[in-house]
Amino acid sequence: MTTPDPHHQNDFLAKLAPELKPLEVAGPTHADQHGKRRAALASWISQQGGGLVILSAGEEIVLNRDTTFPFRSHSDFLYMTGFPEPDAWWIMQVNAEGQTKNVIACRPRDTEREIWDGIRVGPQQAAERFGMDCAVDVTELDHHVIELAANLPAFYAHLGNHHDIDQKLRQWLHALRAQGRAGVNAPDRIVDVGQVIARQRLIKDSSEISTMRLAAGYSAAAHVRAMEFTRPGHREYEIEAELLHAFRSAGAQSVAYGSIVASGPHSCILHHRAGSRAIRDQELVLIDAGCELDGYASDITRTFPANGKFTPHQRAAYDVVLAAQDAATAATRVGEAFTAPHDAAVRVLTQGLLDLRLIPKQSLEGAIESGAYKRFYMHRTGHWLGLDVHDVGDYNTRLTPGMVLTIEPGLYIRPAEDIDPGFWNTGIRIEDDALVTLGDAELLTRGVPVAAEAIEALMRNRD
Ligand code: GLY
Ligand code: MN
Ligand code: MN
Repeated sequence: MTTPDPHHQNDFLAKLAPELKPLEVAGPTHADQHGKRRAALASWISQQGGGLVILSAGEEIVLNRDTTFPFRSHSDFLYMTGFPEPDAWWIMQVNAEGQTKNVIACRPRDTEREIWDGIRVGPQQAAERFGMDCAVDVTELDHHVIELAANLPAFYAHLGNHHDIDQKLRQWLHALRAQGRAGVNAPDRIVDVGQVIARQRLIKDSSEISTMRLAAGYSAAAHVRAMEFTRPGHREYEIEAELLHAFRSAGAQSVAYGSIVASGPHSCILHHRAGSRAIRDQELVLIDAGCELDGYASDITRTFPANGKFTPHQRAAYDVVLAAQDAATAATRVGEAFTAPHDAAVRVLTQGLLDLRLIPKQSLEGAIESGAYKRFYMHRTGHWLGLDVHDVGDYNTRLTPGMVLTIEPGLYIRPAEDIDPGFWNTGIRIEDDALVTLGDAELLTRGVPVAAEAIEALMRNRD
């Protein structure tokens, strides 16, 4: 996870996406990036008078009996350390002068467990491999935290998310206060470090952008494969299987979220998970799916006709959504509010709904003001994207280079007496991942066609 991996170059990708190459990270290596992130956080904390940062990687979660879900570290922990194992903690002592001590606490080596579950890094190697000042055995975590926190003014930890961490903070504070007569000052503040790290994670650094570009390309290739595969009669889960095959064949470790494959009436259910419905002729298929690569999410939606040709009603609605996405993309510019792309999309969608007579005749401004469009467009136009698919970060902010967000307008037209039946069960969403730059936003996910003619051409020429 910390080094560029040759598996990114393989036959599957060479065929589907020849332009995608293994990570080409200009400048610092990933390990350097983790150190830089820790230093940036330390600098801010020292300005607040210092403190002890303590973050948990998390634990394996039991699926049943002795079987666990695949482990995935907490994103903040991954961001700061790149350390891949469960039951690990990162501790950073920062004083007011900006001096730091970085400690990783991890599982000890264990010959018996390693035969079953795989090699552990172990405290003997962890410090050097992950750029820490020292590494300790996690079974002695409490002792080390109490020693490192003595006489610091604050703990910086995740608050209110995990019962275990809240409880440990209480225990550590209790132990430190008990040393008061020995002259030890216990921290008198606990700061939610998640909010501080969220500000950092909002602006992606060069290695993050490089990984996200690659994840986006892999997901685009998977959508192409799904479009090429789809025909009336296929079941939703068969299309999901094509996506999963493409993600894993490319080297992505997992999905970034449960794949949405929604056919016909299901296209109007925003988060419909791929089921067993057989897709019918003349229906739309909405796929919202993306892989996770080295911790980073991608998030793409495409909507296309199962038989390769949009009906006139589908095409009319599709072109409105695409125009809304174009308008939102044009509004994704440095200095704009996060809400600017949404406002731009709503304007185009509402005009489209008026033109298609899906909402009663009225002025555009009146229809926007009254929220008449919300019957057909009930979600926002995007979200931050990064280590989490719905990434951390303040939404009350202006767009800045290095931010990555999705642009995903849609229209969802269910059967109703006052709606022309030609539009029934027309659920359309178009979603791309955008990097904010000094110029136009860069869409990372355009390796999969988006214009109606281009989709039809791909499906016509697939054999
Ligand atoms: N895949 C969830 C979303 O688009 O936000
Ligand atoms: Mn999304
Ligand atoms: Mn999505």
